[in-house]
Amino acid sequence: MADKRIMLVSGARPNFMKIAPLLRALDARPGFTTRLVHTGQHYDEDMARSFFRDLGMRPPDVDLEVGSASHGVQTGRIMILFDELLDREEADLVLVVGDVNSTIACALVAVKRGIPVAHVEAGLRSRDRAMPEEINRILTDSISDLLFTTEETAAPNLHAEGIPDSKIHFAGNVMVDTLFHHRAEAAKIALPDVPERFALVTLHRPSNVDDPVNLKRVVSILVQSARTIPLVFPVHPRTAAKLRETGLRETLESTPGVHLLPPSNYLTFVRLLLAAQVVLTDSGGIQEESTALGVPCITLRENTERPITVSEGTNEVCGLDEEKIAHVLAEAVQGRGKSGRVPKLWDGKAAERIVDELTIYFEERS
Ligand code: UD1
Repeated sequence: MADKRIMLVSGARPNFMKIAPLLRALDARPGFTTRLVHTGQHYDEDMARSFFRDLGMRPPDVDLEVGSASHGVQTGRIMILFDELLDREEADLVLVVGDVNSTIACALVAVKRGIPVAHVEAGLRSRDRAMPEEINRILTDSISDLLFTTEETAAPNLHAEGIPDSKIHFAGNVMVDTLFHHRAEAAKIALPDVPERFALVTLHRPSNVDDPVNLKRVVSILVQSARTIPLVFPVHPRTAAKLRETGLRETLESTPGVHLLPPSNYLTFVRLLLAAQVVLTDSGGIQEESTALGVPCITLRENTERPITVSEGTNEVCGLDEEKIAHVLAEAVQGRGKSGRVPKLWDGKAAERIVDELTIYFEERS
């Protein structure tokens, strides 16, 4: 049987840690050749290039260099460029991960050309359709041929949308594969100049940072929290822009105990996670990473698409409820935060299981 050509798509920062173990597992397995296509949704050193280096990934075989734009324009441009790529290069399967605009754009192009699509991290639902990622999740899952899930709550979500069980494979969490692969290496690197005890903060969800009223609330929560424990806050570029526009950056800069950093590369970020007393975040991936490492996590959102991080892990979904956040933060700082346990199949071997399934998929069709 000729090698099956798998085209793996990466778009934005949270995709890189999901693609890395899949690329490694596919390249180690006979019967597959891989093409790594980066759409260029994230493109600079801080948001993209440092990740390829830290994760030991080869540079992309193809970079579509799409750059930033409105959602419609960005998604449309990726579709055009990816369609043109598929005019030039054949693929037996397109593999997409996560929930970013590149995920739906490339899945849609592939499926319209009759190329099977595998979606890794399928079935997560926040039930909040105001989140751009929720739309990307629902649409990508509805057109994918193979749906690989990270937690057991995902399959019922997919069943409810009419997706048959035969397409769904509970594989575990590829982001945790990467975390465990690099944990020891990250533990050895020097910490940036941060206090000995600190809370790690990340924020970039449109609902928190694009709306000036909510951003003001978020900043007031941070100012309040800094009285309990110093905050270390690597600032996402969109958040940085909004903080500047609203003048709120000055508020943070003048608050004792608030340490603003540029976006972190992967290993430095894991180093910070390992050292943090507690995490305050609106990221999906960081809810999972803190659960996998046993670090208490306060999620500054009204909901989560990753409920296992709450039912089994260290996560508490607090919205922008000042009192609740203050209480959970104080508990964590006093060493009484949620300790949780690592969910099923978050064991560092998810990519291997996915490649096993892909092998079976192609064998059944040969
Ligand atoms: C995207 C994803 C989100 C993911 C996040 C992680 C979608 C819908 N959203 O949102 O799910 O959690 O990435 O970061 O796909 N910028 C840079 N350098 C870059 C890329 C972007 O400075 O390499 C700046 C641009 O000015 C841009 C802003 O960051 O305006 C945000 O980028 P954008 O493409 O809008 O995506 P995110 O908000 O990061």
